[in-house]
Amino acid sequence: MFDIEIERPEHGPAIEALLDLSFGPGRYAKTAQRLREGNEAIPELCYVAFMGEGEERKLIGSLRFWPVVIGGVPGLMLGPLAVVPMLRGQGVGINLMRRGLADAKAMGYQLVILVGDEPYYVKVGFGPVPAGRLTMPGPVDPARLLYRELDIGAFGHAHGAITKPMPGKPSEEIAAVGAA
Ligand SMILES: CC(C)(COP(=O)(O)OP(=O)(O)OC[C@H]1O[C@@H](n2cnc3c(N)ncnc32)[C@H](O)[C@@H]1OP(=O)(O)O)[C@@H](O)C(=O)NCCC(=O)NCCS
Repeated sequence: MFDIEIERPEHGPAIEALLDLSFGPGRYAKTAQRLREGNEAIPELCYVAFMGEGEERKLIGSLRFWPVVIGGVPGLMLGPLAVVPMLRGQGVGINLMRRGLADAKAMGYQLVILVGDEPYYVKVGFGPVPAGRLTMPGPVDPARLLYRELDIGAFGHAHGAITKPMPGKPSEEIAAVGAA
């Protein structure tokens, strides 16, 4: 069994090690990284999964969400998501995402995007962005650009570039504007 907590600063080194192991050095070259540089993950939407008790307790998964503007709609980018190789296929990834998506909806966010494998993310309600509808700040396989509405109809307003939020606009304010 595992449990999910909100990420704390002391989890940082274990998360970095997990991300290096899961994605390799190429992780900084991904187009999604362009939306993370100079941006800050939303602390209330950063999660770690743990397994074991006492000295045996180990960080086994990590998930972060980032504020982005999705073709004019304030929203979130999901990722990176990683689970330690030995414990994959036991529902850690799906449960991290279910928790995050539920919390994000409760916070007022309306729309989430990610770059990833559709056959996996369809399990938590993501689907492909129609070709040409949204653009990332760099090359991305269009079949891997996925979205999920937290509010029905939110995607209908999203057209154009996916960008970082404007400087000086806290994510909560953006979510509130989006919800208005
Ligand atoms: C992708 C990842 C996070 C999944 O975590 P996980 O805890 O193993 O996932 P879950 O146990 O919640 O879900 C497992 C299910 O998803 C399926 N699945 C996992 N990765 C998949 C993929 N890339 N494409 C399609 N299905 C996938 C499994 O076959 C399994 O299906 P089943 O339930 O029908 O048996 C994990 O494999 C990982 O860390 N991979 C390396 C990093 C990575 O690629 N992250 C995603 C970036 S887009």
